[in-house]
Amino acid sequence: MVELEGTYAHRPDRIPRAMSSVLPLAIRPATPTDAAGIASLSGELGYPVAVETLADRLDRVLARVGDVVLVAEAGGDVVGWIHGSEQEFLESGSRCELLGLVVDARQRGQGVGRRLVAAVEAWAARRGLELVSVRSNVARAESHPFYERLGYARVKTQHAYRKRLDLRQ
Ligand SMILES: CC(C)(COP(=O)(O)OP(=O)(O)OC[C@H]1O[C@@H](n2cnc3c(N)ncnc32)[C@H](O)[C@@H]1OP(=O)(O)O)[C@@H](O)C(=O)NCCC(=O)NCCS
Repeated sequence: MVELEGTYAHRPDRIPRAMSSVLPLAIRPATPTDAAGIASLSGELGYPVAVETLADRLDRVLARVGDVVLVAEAGGDVVGWIHGSEQEFLESGSRCELLGLVVDARQRGQGVGRRLVAAVEAWAARRGLELVSVRSNVARAESHPFYERLGYARVKTQHAYRKRLDLRQ
């Protein structure tokens, strides 16, 4: 368990309908059994994925020492997840990249995202990484003030290029 603190007691107005009482929020490393919860939230992120497919990916990512996947759990449900990864660039060295982050829409604005990012930052610091970076789609309007509140500075704007390869050749 990375952290175990915090309840909804101070924000009774934000208690999700499904939660009838004050529930503790835990930030902990993901396990293979979190695949369904992570897949469900991935759909919310705009990446619908079958649980089996997500489970295979999660198994591979969890096996990498340079990657970390954490979940926020409340009342036995996964209400958020984050994926951080150590990336080494030839020209600029190593840093921690936030590759994925989502908080259940019903749970936003309660500090869940802040705690997930803080936990990955702590993981990165333990690995000796001095820099954490994230690329956020301009369309994800809520994520921009979020990262700025957490101390992230916008350093550049990019175009993203993709090319699909024909693997049948
Ligand atoms: C972005 C996201 C992860 C934020 O999670 P969250 O749990 O709602 O964020 P928190 O409650 O921890 O907010 C942390 C800080 O950011 C601020 N913040 C969060 N969302 C905000 C918004 N939409 N507008 C302005 N400020 C916002 C909060 O006010 C808070 O500041 P404070 O602690 O100083 O009061 C969540 O909105 C989300 O999952 N969005 C969809 C997916 C996404 O955009 N992911 C990022 C991909 S790069």
